[in-house]
Amino acid sequence: MQSDIHHKIHLGIIMDGNGRWATRLGHERGWGHREGVRAIRPVVEAVRDAGVGTLTLYAFSSDNWRRPAAEVAILLRLLGSYLRDEIESLVRAGIRLTVIGRRDRLGVRLSRRIAEAEARSAMAERLHLRIAFDYSSRDAIVEAARLAGPNITRDDFAHRLSGGVPDLDLLIRTGGEQRLSDFLLFESAYAELLFTPRLWPDFRPSHVEEALAEFRTRQRRFGALPGPAVAA
Ligand code: IPE
Ligand code: IPE
Ligand code: MG
Repeated sequence: MQSDIHHKIHLGIIMDGNGRWATRLGHERGWGHREGVRAIRPVVEAVRDAGVGTLTLYAFSSDNWRRPAAEVAILLRLLGSYLRDEIESLVRAGIRLTVIGRRDRLGVRLSRRIAEAEARSAMAERLHLRIAFDYSSRDAIVEAARLAGPNITRDDFAHRLSGGVPDLDLLIRTGGEQRLSDFLLFESAYAELLFTPRLWPDFRPSHVEEALAEFRTRQRRFGALPGPAVAA
């Protein structure tokens, strides 16, 4: 599924830097994660208002299980409280929520809450918000490959991998690191990359607007010769 100017854009954000944000202010890392959750709603609403079609937020990687159990427990609890506290507001805002990644390690209660939030918001159409949690792009690719026959086409494979969500158009990573950390590897084949040193808890709607303005200046060629810059 090649991106073009006709579909609404797919934006991905690697929400990084919560731990450093807290440490700098003399707090525990968990404090940074809580403040990170508070930063989500205004950003999501700004993304919706900017006419983005799909927003994928990277919240917890499958490698994040390697962190201390206490920090992992905080992150799992925060997903649960986010779903509990935000689902009504998301539905009212016309936002459909789905969660990508493994479910089998999250526990019965959290998995049930995810399924309920997904069902509750299934009819919303203004923005598709995907939270990547216990997510590994390499695992997702291997899983899709397992189910693919030998004659599968690239487009069919992409569809199987992402359920019809278009390729990533713009990837923002906060927190200063310039790497993908196993996020949407296949889907990022032609994504524009934008790295900002700003830590996630400090990320605001104005920074979304700046990022989208920067994206609009990028000339996407998809391997062809230069054409006009995208107007998204
Ligand atoms: C992002 O912030 C959230 C997760 C990865 C769960 P970090 O916790 O990675 O924060 P830093 O990178 O240590 O500052
Ligand atoms: C990537 O951040 C995962 C999320 C933001 C959820 P990490 O902080 O885990 O990535 P690395 O370890 O710095 O690559
Ligand atoms: Mg980090």
